[in-house]
Amino acid sequence: MFSTLRPSPADPILALAATFREDPRARKLDLGVGVYRDAAGGTPIPRAVKRAEAMLLERQETKSYLGLLGDVAFSAAMADLVFGGAGPAARIASIQTPGGGGALWILMALAKKAAPEATVWLSTPTWPNHGAIAEFAGLKTRAYRYFDPETRDVDAAAMRDDLKEAGPGDIVLLHGCCHNPTGANLTMEDWGALTEMALAQGFTPMVDIAYQGFGDGLAEDAAGLRHMAARVPEMLVAASCSKNFALYRDRTGAAFALCASEGEAAAARANLMTLMRVSISMPPDHGAATVRMILTDPALRADWEAELGDMRGRMLALRAALAEALRARTNSPRFDFIARHRGMFSLVGATPEQVTRLREEHGIYLIGDSRMNVAGLKEDRIGEVADAFAAVGM
Ligand code: LMR
Repeated sequence: MFSTLRPSPADPILALAATFREDPRARKLDLGVGVYRDAAGGTPIPRAVKRAEAMLLERQETKSYLGLLGDVAFSAAMADLVFGGAGPAARIASIQTPGGGGALWILMALAKKAAPEATVWLSTPTWPNHGAIAEFAGLKTRAYRYFDPETRDVDAAAMRDDLKEAGPGDIVLLHGCCHNPTGANLTMEDWGALTEMALAQGFTPMVDIAYQGFGDGLAEDAAGLRHMAARVPEMLVAASCSKNFALYRDRTGAAFALCASEGEAAAARANLMTLMRVSISMPPDHGAATVRMILTDPALRADWEAELGDMRGRMLALRAALAEALRARTNSPRFDFIARHRGMFSLVGATPEQVTRLREEHGIYLIGDSRMNVAGLKEDRIGEVADAFAAVGM
């Protein structure tokens, strides 16, 4: 049967990570895959995670099944972290998922069951897996304009213009914060306008919040989502603990379906359970138990928030330093957007040829669309990166 298979295209982000690993150059610099790195180049396990894991090891008495919803106390704590009380809890169906990717998949599959003809509207550009997951779930996709390559900010007017065509049964996928790949984010005014459009046109917003706490703060990064959740009848939210808890490989996330009524939420929950059962039966426990312990223990939570604040502060400082170095090298404010952007990524505007030259001549790895992972920069190599940008003619 496998003779019918042709190799499928590799994911551009994970393929680049593999190329980087094989590069023998000592001074190679990975600004590709979205993984936070500290000044030493490592991806540390947060102190609170380590402590919660130690407690878990000591206290856990069984590894028997938890059930299709996973750890419900974890999902409740995550709902609180994400929604902050906006969006009535009784109208939200929650389920623990394997990472944010698992949340996106199960929500798309739920949408396919509820509205088989639904179209998912995706920002141009977006995380490449968004479209791939939607299509795998059997949904149609359409693109809306989002990023202005001139200003390197959000083109809100163009976005609203394109989304005028989104109607009932459609899903508009938004990034909660720290837009991947551009780094350009919606303002509260934009969130307000999109909320009014959802109410008037009847589309269902889906918010992917994979970087909460990496932009301006835990509450700040969820403010737009919360504004929307308090007003719209329906909304889907995919949350990830990969980045803010650094639980990448432990595949920890949650999916939420905000429904128009408690009855609809009960039906959505039952369908999420069925989708979990037929796909992976149950989500993995370890990461979710760890997060649940951190979010419900005031001391652990305070320590986690402090460490997350340090990570955020470091990314902001790296952004400021690189923008400053590029201002000096290019004698222009062209790269000031790097300091304005938020989160791990900025789309820096290199051509594919320049991206190739950065990798081949300077050992600096960006994704092919010129996405740079700011957290991969090192304080003592900012000047070198700015020189390389200038050397390839950016
Ligand atoms: C990224 O965008 O680099 C991360 O979200 C990792 C991934 O799975 O693509």
